[in-house]
Amino acid sequence: MPENEQIDSKYDPRKRRSIEKLKPHEGSSFKKIIAIISGKGGVGKSLVTSLLAVTLLNQGHEVSIMDADITGPSIAKTFGRDNYTCLGDKDGIFPAKTDRGITLISSNNLLDDPKTPIVWRGSLISSLVSQMFTEIVYGEKEYLLIDMPPGTGDVPLTVFQQLPIDAAIVVSSPQELVSEVVTKSINMAKMMNVNLLGIVENMAYVQCPHCGEKIDVFGNVSSSDLSKQTGLPILDEIPIDPSITKLVDEGRIEEYQKDYLKKAAKAILDL
Ligand SMILES: Nc1ncnc2c1ncn2[C@@H]1O[C@H](COP(=O)(O)OP(=O)(O)O)[C@@H](O)[C@H]1O
Ligand SMILES: [Mg+2]
Repeated sequence: MPENEQIDSKYDPRKRRSIEKLKPHEGSSFKKIIAIISGKGGVGKSLVTSLLAVTLLNQGHEVSIMDADITGPSIAKTFGRDNYTCLGDKDGIFPAKTDRGITLISSNNLLDDPKTPIVWRGSLISSLVSQMFTEIVYGEKEYLLIDMPPGTGDVPLTVFQQLPIDAAIVVSSPQELVSEVVTKSINMAKMMNVNLLGIVENMAYVQCPHCGEKIDVFGNVSSSDLSKQTGLPILDEIPIDPSITKLVDEGRIEEYQKDYLKKAAKAILDL
């Protein structure tokens, strides 16, 4: 292209960041919106999202969760709301509500049967994610946590571009392959000017129930490498803890009382 030719502003990559952000439903308001991201599946994004929600709740804050993992939803089940089907009227759609008042939505809650798979193309999935933000009546809350799907595809692109998120927290686990893939999603977030608060290292160790010794189940891979490479701080470490798995499987995560996520919660409160 000749050097001084005018670019139609619609196609000018330098203007792309000014895409107008979506507004939440008029029955929802949030002080801060935080995405929980990781390039990889199965590292514990949903677990960290749920534990963070409960940690904030335990500290007296009002929280909502939006499960943006449309094809692999887990938030509703983790909070025992898997069989709730959302009701709506012309004004909006009402999310599931937990005993302690977290309002949440997973794609399961939009189906009659939670076992029905969602077999949709990416563009449809991302429009559902946008609608989960604009059409759900979450109520007046302090924090909205968005549980992201793995990867750097359509949904992260939609969330980073169209939703007015204030920050993101990265979840990783101490394996080199995981760090490598997680770095991609960190770089994507950086490219899109997302404010990254830091890394939570999940499954960091196992603690011997008898002597209390910490065992590195994945060998001696250092989480500080990912931190050094990406310039992000390690906020917290979560061990592999069977009591957490039990609470998740039984849909009782709200009863979680430990405070593995102190620093991540503080980083959110300090925003
Ligand atoms: N620290 C942990 N201790 C025990 N179980 C865990 C831990 N982290 C994750 N899990 C379990 O591993 C599975 C995968 O975690 P999940 O949060 O669903 O991963 P992701 O959302 O990244 O795909 C879940 O069944 C979860 O309960
Ligand atoms: Mg998940």
